Amino acid sequence: MNTGNIQSQHLLGLKSLTREEIESILAQATVFKEVFNRSVKKLPTLNNKVFVSLFYENSTRTRASFDMAIRMLGAGSINFSVQTSSVNKGETLIDTVRNLESLGIDGIIVRHPMGGVPALIADHVKVPVINAGDGFNEHPTQALLDLFTMIEEKGYIEGKKVAIIGDILHSRVARSNIWALTKLGANVIVCGPPSLIPIGVENMGVTVTNKVEEAIEDADFVNVLRVQFERQKGNFFPSTREYYREYGITPQRLKRAKDDVIIMHPGPMNRGVEISTEVADGPYNVILEQVTNGVAVRMAVLYMLMSRKTTV
Ligand code: CP
Repeated sequence: MNTGNIQSQHLLGLKSLTREEIESILAQATVFKEVFNRSVKKLPTLNNKVFVSLFYENSTRTRASFDMAIRMLGAGSINFSVQTSSVNKGETLIDTVRNLESLGIDGIIVRHPMGGVPALIADHVKVPVINAGDGFNEHPTQALLDLFTMIEEKGYIEGKKVAIIGDILHSRVARSNIWALTKLGANVIVCGPPSLIPIGVENMGVTVTNKVEEAIEDADFVNVLRVQFERQKGNFFPSTREYYREYGITPQRLKRAKDDVIIMHPGPMNRGVEISTEVADGPYNVILEQVTNGVAVRMAVLYMLMSRKTTV
């Protein structure tokens, strides 16, 4: 069933993946999406595998989506809660993962507020590590599901204008999207207030603007990012009312985009801050389809990492 291969033992980010590897994961996800639409969804593919999800940050979509993917592949998971674990008795991250590995688990899914933690864990364990979001660094499975949804909607990505609008500075979603979209030949423009644009982001192969109208002009896709209040130390803009007035995605602003523009958001949304309710629930939004596609994409990642492990 495998449609390609991933060279790395881990999925730490999309920066290090080739276009071919990204396309292989998306092709495998297409196979699993078809399974997802069947009445009997469950496959026995990974029925002797057990995963542990370590979420040092809150999550609704990513955690539940990995849980769903694990179940659909017939695998098992350890219910690990950071809040009730021995982390709260002072056990280190590395001791925690090495102890979990000693239980015989087959893979670690990790979200952490510090960038680089999944790579650090990967240096200390033998099993595959999957990054479910690390600080401002990367959120590879989110970007993969975004790409999958884009291809589902418009057939291909090469040459499409993708506007990523919002809090780029604090966004691991933006970084993973930029690495992947530029590899697949998209024309990426990032937009937000100057205080929320990382210095040097143009070196990632994107155009930068602080004018939302310029970003939206003729866009095929508008990916709206959440203002990450929890990561902001200090004031990055005068008020949420002013942010909405300058950067909020409204039906009026979208008139500049292509007629069939697709509206995306990784969630969770701040309605009335970065996006209006009319747009969030409007005809061109694929926000819940993104969530659905997350299951097939995560199934593909788990399956490909596990099959790589057993075939080398
Ligand atoms: N998109 C995303 O990562 O959502 P959660 O934080 O709910 O997992």
